[in-house]
Amino acid sequence: MNILIFDSGMGGLSVYQEIKRRLPQATYTYVFDNGAFPYGELPPSTLVDRVVAIIKDRVAARDIDLVVIACNTASTVVLPPLREQLSIPVVGVVPAIKPAASASKVGVIGLLATPATVSRPYTDELISRFAEHCKVLRVGSTRLVEIAEDKLRGIPAPLGELAQILSPFKGAVDQLILGCTHFPLLREEICAVLEEAVSVIDSGAAIANRVVSLLEGSTLKEQGAHQVYCTLADKNCLALHSYLEQQALSAPQVISLTLPDA
Ligand code: DGL
Repeated sequence: MNILIFDSGMGGLSVYQEIKRRLPQATYTYVFDNGAFPYGELPPSTLVDRVVAIIKDRVAARDIDLVVIACNTASTVVLPPLREQLSIPVVGVVPAIKPAASASKVGVIGLLATPATVSRPYTDELISRFAEHCKVLRVGSTRLVEIAEDKLRGIPAPLGELAQILSPFKGAVDQLILGCTHFPLLREEICAVLEEAVSVIDSGAAIANRVVSLLEGSTLKEQGAHQVYCTLADKNCLALHSYLEQQALSAPQVISLTLPDA
């Protein structure tokens, strides 16, 4: 089986790692839209147009069995239009509001995501469905997304800046939801900065469970080479090669596709 994992950048690798642990025999196609990175400040219509075009192109080119939108920001708007256009399963990422709210003892939980994800109606709905009894502190940060990407290029996360971004949560929450797939890549640094007993929750394992259950019973194809595709070849992309190699992934190839401007 060939699983396509999509994100704006490298955040989807946190999801890839969880899925690959469960399904080491699958073939992986990792696709990232670095031509429009970061996604957290893009209008929904641009996101929908780009993501639908990119995914349709790669699904056709790579004989894909299942798509994972490993990006909370994209998942808040693209899942319905994408599912309409594809006949294979599409799995999205939802911030782990439900488990965080039910585990909270103090009744105050934190949501750390992109500016788009913290303010979308999709997130408001999740909060009113699953966390009505809690106070939800929301922080949207694009800077943290960049810090996570830099880490994979060998630039250590600036802990002072991280502490500043996380300051609204300090001493206030007992559960912190990582509502952006880039943030598990900074889990150690986030835990070090928060110090106290805050449970840091992401959605990686839940997505892997969903993928495993959707693929149960599918015929095992011979494993092919894992491939990586992006939408822009630049020096930031080049600097990721060694991290991708450590993840058993190839150097990114640029997709030749005319896309709506970001
Ligand atoms: N990794 C993404 C998410 O889960 C997107 C980050 C961004 O491009 O701003 O939201």
